[in-house]
Amino acid sequence: KGCKLIGCGSAVPTLSVSNDDLAKMVDTSDEWISVRTGIRNRRVISGKESLKYLATEAARKALEMADVNPNDLDLILMCTSTPEDLFGAAPQVQRELGCTASTLAYDITAACSGFVLGLISAACHIRGAGFQNILVIGADGLSRFVDWNDRGTCILFGDAAGAVVVQACDAEEDGLLSFDVHSDGEGGRHLGACIKDSNTDNVLGSNGSALEFPPKRSSYSCIHMNGKEVFRFAVRCVPQSIESALEKAGLTASNIDWLLLHQANQRIIDAVATRLEFPQEQVISNLANYGNTSAASIPLALDEAVRSGKVKPGHTIAAAGFGAGLTWGSAIIRW
Ligand code: ACO
Repeated sequence: KGCKLIGCGSAVPTLSVSNDDLAKMVDTSDEWISVRTGIRNRRVISGKESLKYLATEAARKALEMADVNPNDLDLILMCTSTPEDLFGAAPQVQRELGCTASTLAYDITAACSGFVLGLISAACHIRGAGFQNILVIGADGLSRFVDWNDRGTCILFGDAAGAVVVQACDAEEDGLLSFDVHSDGEGGRHLGACIKDSNTDNVLGSNGSALEFPPKRSSYSCIHMNGKEVFRFAVRCVPQSIESALEKAGLTASNIDWLLLHQANQRIIDAVATRLEFPQEQVISNLANYGNTSAASIPLALDEAVRSGKVKPGHTIAAAGFGAGLTWGSAIIRW
């Protein structure tokens, strides 16, 4: 059985924050940020905006393009690491869209690889469980977990949501040609946002301290990152993953129309394209306008590329996500 992407949509917050705006808050400059990252602007959730609202807007646009009624969705996968409810956001989006309880909805937490993992899960549900229509949303509001006094991280992130509708089809029309996915908990220390005041490395009762009850109410610390290590990991692992996905699909880089990477840093995107000997003019990038929007970055860039007419029906896209976990993975998509 095949499955194909039949619609996409995206939504970004209203508030735009430029590099010059950030230079008024921390010791940085537009030149430093744009030369090292390629980022010039980012959107930040503010006022009454919510991640749930952005995700629902992106979903509505994707459903409209796909001409699928929300009630015909079998499954909503919300790929996010920053839900407004600890227990997940997907059922809230389900309610906002007005779907009945016959639509299953749950979250996938895999940071910037979340959307690729969501596509894989959608393909498994279609091929293995006979699902017909699945909404995959990538949405994150990392601005809420950034230390706005830390110039090493606050310049990188933005908020956004993107969505696609994946539908069952005949095998000959298959639009999800192959996948490749990995995770490495060992490298996880390079990038995270952990619960405060807890030693997550200690096994229960083994740290010699008195047992405490009731436990302290927890909150998450801000994002911490070893940028150089994350950079090295991405440049090493992402090309390998794309090559592996291409091989599984029986393709080479020369068969691909577009390279669409998680939008983390233009230097990472350029380095991966160079390693794959991929022409720069076939690399999709909207990082300058939105920064790193985590799980939203691939569907957001895809939506812009489709609506601007860059990506056309029948085009083949090599998409790859990478980030915290560490997690990384690729999908070969025929639009
Ligand atoms: N403005 C000015 N100077 C800065 C800034 C800033 N915003 N940030 C750091 N610096 C300074 C540092 O303090 C350091 O100064 P020093 O030499 O006096 O000590 C100098 O600039 C170099 O800092 P580095 O951290 O070594 O800079 P680097 O070239 O590595 O660039 C960056 C940093 C842009 C973060 C880069 O490492 C990177 O992009 N890494 C990948 C990050 C990434 O992709 N993360 C997201 C993963 S996705 C996810 O899962 C959320």
